[in-house]
Amino acid sequence: MQKHQYEVVVVGAGGAGLTAALYASRNASTAVISKLYPTRSHTGAAQGGIGAALGNTEEDHPEWHAFDTVKGSDYLGDQDAIEFMAAEAVDAVYELEHMGLPFSRNPDGTIAQRPFGGHTNNETGKPVRRACYAADRTGHMILQTLYQQSIKNQVKFFDEFYVLDLLIVDGKTAGLVAMELATGEMHIFQAKAVIIATGGHGRVWETTSNAYSYTGDGVALALRKGIPAEDMEFYQFHPTGIYKMGILITEGVRGEGGVLINGEGNRFMETYAPTVKDLASRDVISRAMYLEMKAGRGINGKRFMNLDVTPEVVNHYAEIDGRKNPDGSPYRVTASDILAKLPDIIDFCETYIGVNPVTDPMPVQPTAHYAMGGIPTNKYGEVVVDEKNTVLPGLYAAGEVACVSVHGANRLGTNALLDLVVFGKYSGLKAAEFANSEAYVDLPPDPEAYAMQQLNAIRNSSGKENMITLASEMKSVMAEHVGVFRVEEGMAEAVEKVRELKERFKDVRVDDHGSKYNMNLIEAWELSNLIDIAEVTAVSALARKESRGAHSRDDYPDRDDDNWLKHTLAWMENGGVRLAYKPVTMTKYTPKARSY
Ligand code: FUM
Repeated sequence: MQKHQYEVVVVGAGGAGLTAALYASRNASTAVISKLYPTRSHTGAAQGGIGAALGNTEEDHPEWHAFDTVKGSDYLGDQDAIEFMAAEAVDAVYELEHMGLPFSRNPDGTIAQRPFGGHTNNETGKPVRRACYAADRTGHMILQTLYQQSIKNQVKFFDEFYVLDLLIVDGKTAGLVAMELATGEMHIFQAKAVIIATGGHGRVWETTSNAYSYTGDGVALALRKGIPAEDMEFYQFHPTGIYKMGILITEGVRGEGGVLINGEGNRFMETYAPTVKDLASRDVISRAMYLEMKAGRGINGKRFMNLDVTPEVVNHYAEIDGRKNPDGSPYRVTASDILAKLPDIIDFCETYIGVNPVTDPMPVQPTAHYAMGGIPTNKYGEVVVDEKNTVLPGLYAAGEVACVSVHGANRLGTNALLDLVVFGKYSGLKAAEFANSEAYVDLPPDPEAYAMQQLNAIRNSSGKENMITLASEMKSVMAEHVGVFRVEEGMAEAVEKVRELKERFKDVRVDDHGSKYNMNLIEAWELSNLIDIAEVTAVSALARKESRGAHSRDDYPDRDDDNWLKHTLAWMENGGVRLAYKPVTMTKYTPKARSY
């Protein structure tokens, strides 16, 4: 066993973790522990842009960005945090530019911006160009830029280390226990502050845009230490994943003029969102797609729609919509415009399904994409552990693993990349400030004991349950009953099934009993994380008797602000889940019915 001591330890090396490390390292000794090599983190899969009201090509304001985010959240987002994020966005994007991020450019050299779902001119209700982009590789570029900066800033990286336990002593953060994947050796990290930035948990569902590594490690770690998870019932399905595969097709495709077409050849979003059509928020579009498919209007009666960005179709609908370029000329595209703006999308479609989007439509279906819920924090990234927002000293969370809550019941596209740089920055600054004023907390006598006991229980298990079978049963029940549409009986069935899987997991079979690169063991551990998260999600969803944002119930079809304008907190306790609620922070936006 090896011991390390750093003032700040960050878990996860995606956009939030790297931003946090960068800022923390300016004032404190900082290490990053990551189960992946940093540039393989899932932030690299984010495509279409980062939201900021730069107003480079048309009028826009942080206040409009804030209101769109509140409305997009179906009024569940905390308004103080949303206003903070929208106001910070402009500086955050310029800071990335100054770090060297190669944004796409307008002819005048300013950062290029494209329309995205739910981003509007608050006066006209029409789409506004707010998504700052680097072609369709914005997340990839953010990741590379932040990694270079972190290396320059002497951040110490522990790549391919898997965190097994969070050490909390007398209610204060003391450090972490991690396993080095190459050797199986245990490492104890004593830290004054720990920042959890491990990303999301889309692998709970069958079809997802998420990487295989997105297994909810941070939320599960926190739940096991008595920390609640907030708003877990709100999980976003992105409307456009490649049919059957789930690989993300960026909303930027629709920002560039692409349209969704049903099996009857109609642009069905005209019916569901007459003002912004294909640029409505994701929850609205995903539901519309399911309704169309249910009515037999999928392509060839199947469960997918066409996403068409061929120049003829884009130009046809741009003319109908009266879409204009910033200089007032009619908006028209050519094949080379599409190639320049969406190179990765074209590459993915040609590689995985043999479709060239410049000449043919892409088959798409909703895909599990983003967790609005997670570890509760305030806007400085400090983890809060109860209804009164009591801070757990020395513990921080940022990015998709956290619930600030700026996304409420539904996130707007491009606010994920923004969330991770804004709240990554503040959690890093706050953690370093905390570390500068506090002493290390003494570690418990056997810091690795709990982790070893859990790990050995799995490692030495040669039971009869197959991991793949358990995972596929979980994904299938969650997709069927805790997906885009939900009802009481289905969710109750999901809770029961997930609990059965939890029991069966105790008899899981791990075939590799060795120490070196035992990915069989790590996959089993990740599956136990996913099962815990599935249970907390299904229980939280079952309890919420209304429809709001991504939580859409056939049996309670309306939003119910009188009873449910509140955040869920869920604790794993006594072999079950305990729920409580806390109020939404309101500033100046009064809840109204959403229309697009
Ligand atoms: O559609 C996209 O490019 C995804 C962006 C996001 O989730 O913010």
